[in-house]
Amino acid sequence: MNWHENKRVLVGVSGGIAAYKSPALVREFIRRNCDVRVVMTRAAAEFVTPLTLQAVSGHAVRRDLWDAEAEAGGAGGSGDAGGPGDASGSDVPGAPGARGDSGMGHIELARWAELIVVAPASADCIARLAHGRADDLLAAVVLAAADDVEVTVAPAMNRRMWESAATRDNLATLAKRGARIIGPAAGGQACGETGPGRMTEPEYIARELIGEAPPLLLSGAAALVTAGPTWEALDPVRGLTNRSSGKMGFALAQAARDFGARVTLVSGPVALESPPGVRRVDVVSAEEMFEAVMAEAPGADLFIGVAAVADYRPAQAAAHKIAKQGARMRLELTRNPDILAAVAALESGPVTLGFAAETENVVANARAKLEAKGVDVMAANWVGGDDGDGGGDGGDGLGNGGVFGGDANAVTLLFRGRREAEKLARTDKYRLAVQIIERVAPLVTRAGDGDGDDKVAADDNGGDAGDGDKVTAGNNGDAGAHAGAGARHRA
Ligand SMILES: Cc1cc2nc3c(=O)[nH]c(=O)nc-3n(C[C@H](O)[C@H](O)[C@H](O)COP(=O)(O)O)c2cc1C
Repeated sequence: MNWHENKRVLVGVSGGIAAYKSPALVREFIRRNCDVRVVMTRAAAEFVTPLTLQAVSGHAVRRDLWDAEAEAGGAGGSGDAGGPGDASGSDVPGAPGARGDSGMGHIELARWAELIVVAPASADCIARLAHGRADDLLAAVVLAAADDVEVTVAPAMNRRMWESAATRDNLATLAKRGARIIGPAAGGQACGETGPGRMTEPEYIARELIGEAPPLLLSGAAALVTAGPTWEALDPVRGLTNRSSGKMGFALAQAARDFGARVTLVSGPVALESPPGVRRVDVVSAEEMFEAVMAEAPGADLFIGVAAVADYRPAQAAAHKIAKQGARMRLELTRNPDILAAVAALESGPVTLGFAAETENVVANARAKLEAKGVDVMAANWVGGDDGDGGGDGGDGLGNGGVFGGDANAVTLLFRGRREAEKLARTDKYRLAVQIIERVAPLVTRAGDGDGDDKVAADDNGGDAGDGDKVTAGNNGDAGAHAGAGARHRA
């Protein structure tokens, strides 16, 4: 297994001192590109707040079996932003990954999960699981999980509780049924004793279950990403826009986050959920996007311009709906600011990566744009496809057809000062984003003070819950702070 696979992980948190480690565990899974939901026992909420776990997972936390709203399905209850049973992404019943709609939230959770990880697992919780109890939400979900759901238990308790015959028997029962037991580790305990009973470290658990995390190539760096289309109003109900879905930009934001960057995503109107841990700024028009980007860009180390920004807008947006007129109508347009060029022109600005969607002469046109705008890297996209599934391979044979809206893409990367282009083969947009970031991250490194050790510097990604309205998680450290000693700009 590896972090490209986007596993659905249910983290169960029970009531023990080690519950303070559970937000870190959630972050480890998120960093490995997993989709995470959290269920807490009532006792767990005495040790760690549901709000913290909501912030790091990006979804409301479920605690109660007797939650009528959540049990009814809907949006997952309790203000869940896209939990099992809601109408977004792969959670849609019947969509890949979903196993059908029972109309009962706890059953949906059990069906949704591919992995269930109870960490920390208290002695009491282990006993309930071993005895097939279903009188709280976590135990009920584990009991309702299908045989192919991998259940892992990470015990954490006082060493005498751990050594007790009852706990040993309960764990043996769980192991016999196929559950995986990770830990506990030995060492000093919160109760003052020394011995086995400490919860295994989150990083180790995530590595065991998913695999290595992506390398922190962008640790300490601030990445600014634009995504989606813009909407240029003609009147209050009509406008000029394009077919960009935002998927490529969101995938790049997610990949930059996974590589350790603090990410701000400036998005035009799209129907996509923000990746947890990414700060999102919503805009509508190109001018709004320009304002938002220019406010953030001076503090960014890497700018990724993926948004399909309208080159022109109506010279005047009518205050009222334009009435039908004669057989012809003339529309006057005016130029929008060129966001990518403006960022590239900043003194000590970020390393810039632009996307050039072309329908012909893809590489030549993208190379011309790169030179003209002073951009560091240009990702050339052929958008001549008409099928939307990325199957097209026309034009110059780059195979980039159907870029807009599809889940797959291919690009050719052009680097300033480098003659040869690098073609990245068609794959899903997240994997492609990972490959792009892997190639661009070294430029951000090199842009530092030249001693080569900038990258993995100040920020250990240790910040906590996000701040600001749309900051949904804090796996990237303090969303407000600047990269500081981390990787920096072009000279
Ligand atoms: C301060 C305090 C710390 C506790 N730490 C642990 C612990 O580390 N491990 C454990 O198994 N139980 C611990 N307990 C006991 C559990 O919280 C208790 O058994 C509870 O019923 C567990 O509920 P749950 O399994 O539903 O989360 C602790 C209790 C208190 C008051």
